[in-house]
Amino acid sequence: MEIRSIEWTPDGVVLLDQTLLPKVEKNLTIKTVDELIDAIKRLAVRGAPALGVAGAFGVVVALDQAKAENWDETKLEREINSIRDARPTAVNLAWGVNQVRPMISQGRDAVLAAAQKLAAQDRASNTAMGNIGADWLISKLGDRKFRLLTHCNTGSLATTGTGTALGVIKELYKRGKILEVFADETRPLLQGSRLTAWELAKSNIPYRIQPDGAAAMAILSGKIDAALIGADRIAKNGDSANKIGSLGVALACHIAKIPFLVVAPESTVDRTIADGSGIHIEIRGDYELTHIGDTQIAPDGAQTFNPAFDVTPAKFISAVITELKSYEIAEGQTL
Ligand code: MRU
Repeated sequence: MEIRSIEWTPDGVVLLDQTLLPKVEKNLTIKTVDELIDAIKRLAVRGAPALGVAGAFGVVVALDQAKAENWDETKLEREINSIRDARPTAVNLAWGVNQVRPMISQGRDAVLAAAQKLAAQDRASNTAMGNIGADWLISKLGDRKFRLLTHCNTGSLATTGTGTALGVIKELYKRGKILEVFADETRPLLQGSRLTAWELAKSNIPYRIQPDGAAAMAILSGKIDAALIGADRIAKNGDSANKIGSLGVALACHIAKIPFLVVAPESTVDRTIADGSGIHIEIRGDYELTHIGDTQIAPDGAQTFNPAFDVTPAKFISAVITELKSYEIAEGQTL
């Protein structure tokens, strides 16, 4: 069965609640701006491209609520801005809001049509990235079966199609080119073991989960042929923000001299930012580190450092794959 992370229905935005996976497959119907912001902050909907679609549909949710509750223009503006700013690192969220906002003057249905179009384009871009990424890896590694490492979740749950990095892996599997996928569990919210493993299992792709701390060893001991990740924001020089732990994977790949690919749609490329130092990294709360589920695992009052993302410098990235092309970024060049 096809995985649908987010879609518009006559009842509002329907999200597959990713906080409950893999045990429970339950949809959330979102009817208000506050519900949407809560879902975004809790990561019920997550992954940069899916957040872009959530932002675009969110403008329709705001317009419907404005009509029902008689909001004035200022209140509507404020509510739309709060959707845009609900998470700071993935540029796609603000991008999705900004893409459809100019349609407001043409009416709510025009905004909805623009949001639906954006979702369809995301889906098509996944297919294109899958093909470009698969061709790239085969051209570099040869026509054989690969052992691939991935970090976080970049599949159907994070997009409206097959995914970005995971979309490439799914395409390679279709072509008979996957021996095994090593999925980093992705602390602290376990997007790898909860979500990526769930998607790989659904696609019958052979995989194993490893703790994030095992990634460097797996890479340096020759167990991995290439690593593929997604991105939340890519600066003009190719520096790429992605889930915390991605940088360590990139450094290990650099030392092992194996490809490290970033796969993301053009909407994730932020050419207003010259390099990674300009990317705002979301810092999340203590609870995600001091607890697993409801169980406390750290002493009372433990201080934490919980960045949701890190930035991999372009010099450690073999190529950035988008729906348009593969960029192999030499020093001093830009995307
Ligand atoms: O905090 P998350 O789960 O939203 O982080 C997601 C990631 O880091 C993904 O790798 C990224 O958004 C790309 S998804 C195609």
